[in-house]
Amino acid sequence: MTHGTVFATGAAGGIGEATVARLLSDGYTVVATDISHDALEVLAKRHAGQKLHTVQADLTDEAAARNAVREGRRMAGQIDYLVNVIGWFGTQPFVREDSAYWRKTIAINFEALLYVTHEILPEMIERKKGKIINVTSDAGKVGQSGEAVYSGMKGAVIAWSKSLARENARYGLNINCTAPGPTETALELAQDPDVIARVVKAIPFRRFAKPSDQAAMISFLCGPDSDFITGQVYSVSGGLTMI
Ligand SMILES: NC(=O)c1ccc[n+]([C@@H]2O[C@H](COP(=O)([O-])OP(=O)(O)OC[C@H]3O[C@@H](n4cnc5c(N)ncnc54)[C@H](O)[C@@H]3O)[C@@H](O)[C@H]2O)c1
Repeated sequence: MTHGTVFATGAAGGIGEATVARLLSDGYTVVATDISHDALEVLAKRHAGQKLHTVQADLTDEAAARNAVREGRRMAGQIDYLVNVIGWFGTQPFVREDSAYWRKTIAINFEALLYVTHEILPEMIERKKGKIINVTSDAGKVGQSGEAVYSGMKGAVIAWSKSLARENARYGLNINCTAPGPTETALELAQDPDVIARVVKAIPFRRFAKPSDQAAMISFLCGPDSDFITGQVYSVSGGLTMI
């Protein structure tokens, strides 16, 4: 049985929900945050009686993000792990996008992580203990047509995470990324069925990842077997990318 409290963002989405379920069953206390009040209610009902707390917040709003962390601390005590699952993308060519779309993409996929991490990191530094896992994407490593700015932000999260890992290794903190490939969630399955069929063909294991495949890697990176690992990016994509 593992102990400690996880603060998870984007926790009511497809990968987030599987991650919450996995970490609760691993024995962690989980503070689940998301912008969707309704999805958090469903999550809370599903895990009634377990060590789950929920906080609704728009994490692209700095004050709301910092308050969500404080609220999580008030409910669950010190935060030992931060798992950033929050993310969003649409699919269209860059030339058809406008700056409002870019700002939304940048805010959800990068800025929200800065606010939450900036609020949590000092307590980890003080205790010289803590693990941060940022869910990025294979798109942040190899690019993805139709998702140019999203891919740029996922690449930014990777470089930022590696920098934080170097900066905070002296305090014994572990900071790593997961890079999901196509995963069976509403966000991914909203795409054109022909596109989905082509993608499945390109995956060596010939299937999308299940949200639980992503949760398993996050569980490993929270757990004690990853104590000597920092600054790494783990693809969970059935071999779609091999870099
Ligand atoms: N599904 C995939 O195929 C896939 C592939 C690669 C990477 N990813 C990444 O995995 C992560 C999870 O993706 P998913 O497929 O579960 O998506 P999802 O849309 O199901 O979950 C994302 C969650 O983030 C929440 N969120 C969005 N904006 C928010 C905001 N402003 N404040 C707070 N919460 C907000 C949403 O409400 C949602 O619950 C994302 O970072 C995504 O980029 C997913």
